[in-house]
Amino acid sequence: MPAMLRTDPNIIITGTPGVGKTTHCQQLASSTGLHHLDINDVVKKHNIGESSTDPEDPNTKIVDEDRLLDCIENDLEEGGQIIDWHACDLFPPSLIDLVCVIRCDNQVLYDRLKKRGYGEKKLQENMDCEIMEVLLQEARDAYPEEQVVELRSEGTGDVDGNVERIEGWIKNWRKDHGKEGEVEAQGGKGSAKDEDNPMFLHG
Ligand SMILES: Nc1ncnc2c1ncn2[C@@H]1O[C@H](COP(=O)(O)OP(=O)(O)O)[C@@H](O)[C@H]1O
Ligand SMILES: [Mg+2]
Repeated sequence: MPAMLRTDPNIIITGTPGVGKTTHCQQLASSTGLHHLDINDVVKKHNIGESSTDPEDPNTKIVDEDRLLDCIENDLEEGGQIIDWHACDLFPPSLIDLVCVIRCDNQVLYDRLKKRGYGEKKLQENMDCEIMEVLLQEARDAYPEEQVVELRSEGTGDVDGNVERIEGWIKNWRKDHGKEGEVEAQGGKGSAKDEDNPMFLHG
């Protein structure tokens, strides 16, 4: 099915482990009715992850990306997927409408990962990943500039605020794609432009 026939957008929520991807996806799925596509679950369900050979890190799975894409291609073509994964450049840009890179203060992230019981090496790798902005760069390299948004997730209010912004973006997307055509922007303007888009007002 051509990408333009999607009636709901596909949104990637990405970022370093521990930044708050799953928290955002769950809240967004429950408020919008879109589907939380947790790639961890897909990997488990289809058994497409090889255990890492690193003895310090036996739980990490090396995922076969081609097989992963085969497993989720139909879902992506249908649309309405909120993709939860700590990588983003494997998803075909033609099937992706928005990429949110969740960011977190180093100390806050360190405490969260420590609480998760991460060992020192894995902790350091993930801290480096956040400090070097690896996921932000990956997103910017793989997708058009206007589709990539950076969102902070440090306090509880951040999740609510971010989810509200994404909801507003989804509303605009639906309007631009012929859904909810009757819902007019405040002031009754026509098609949404970037400057009207809540996603980019503060970004
Ligand atoms: N904005 C936030 N405020 C407070 N706690 C948060 C926030 N974002 C995430 N957390 C907490 O941080 C931990 C990791 O979040 P999670 O959503 O599981 O991250 P990820 O899916 O990116 O690994 C969880 O305990 C979650 O409740
Ligand atoms: Mg998660």
